[in-house]
Amino acid sequence: MDNQPSRKTVLRAALAAGVAVPAALLAVPALARTSTQAPPLTPACDDGDDPTPPQTEGPYFKPNSPERTSLVQPGTVGTPLTVSGYVFGLKCQPIAKVLLDFWQADNNGAYDNVGFKFRGHQYTDANGAFKLTTIVPGLYPGRTRHIHVKVQAPNRPVLTTQLYFPNEPRNNTDSIFDPRLLMTVHNVGNGREAAFDFVLNVPQNPPTTTPPPGGGGTWAAGTSYPAGTRVTYNGIGYVCLQTHVAQPGWEPPATAALWRAE
Ligand SMILES: [Fe+2]
Repeated sequence: MDNQPSRKTVLRAALAAGVAVPAALLAVPALARTSTQAPPLTPACDDGDDPTPPQTEGPYFKPNSPERTSLVQPGTVGTPLTVSGYVFGLKCQPIAKVLLDFWQADNNGAYDNVGFKFRGHQYTDANGAFKLTTIVPGLYPGRTRHIHVKVQAPNRPVLTTQLYFPNEPRNNTDSIFDPRLLMTVHNVGNGREAAFDFVLNVPQNPPTTTPPPGGGGTWAAGTSYPAGTRVTYNGIGYVCLQTHVAQPGWEPPATAALWRAE
């Protein structure tokens, strides 16, 4: 991995901050609801975010885990941990209703193979976000510290993988360990907050670029239009309200923030 902020990193920050996400990422007509702001000039999402790699399931998966976002129960011993993040598809757009089924060892490195302690599934919300509340899993022989997870977008295959903690001595000797699956982990109070974003091998269409029927005129995608420029589109004259570079989907009739009919 390099240190360049990726498209999904930027998107993650935007989602976390609750700010408007560029339409080109979410494929929604953002211009229709941002009438006073300049539109985001977002290039195609092609930053090369590879899908999250799969890992072995291991011997301790159990189906039918309870649906819950917290694996902490009364009397749970261990270092508090949250794992939060987003699930994206191949075009870096977040995916809602993705199933995430987590299972992990307890503080002593033991799995509950009788009941469902430290096992639970949840679904991403409308923003593609998830958050797991748990403890830092204990170590057991032969492995570095890890959390197991199965991730499945609606009607898509299951991704089985594992998440890892940075700065663990055993990361260097565990043959299964994959640095691409390292979480970002911060100490917060007496616990830890971890973050990881999944990228699933889910095709996603680019934002809708279908122009209104008809078209024609002097307006053209790819053209830089200073404010005040006059164009015609589908037989109607428009004046440019904000300097921008025209893109497919930003035709004058569809972008009241950019063009005013004359
Ligand atoms: Fe394990």
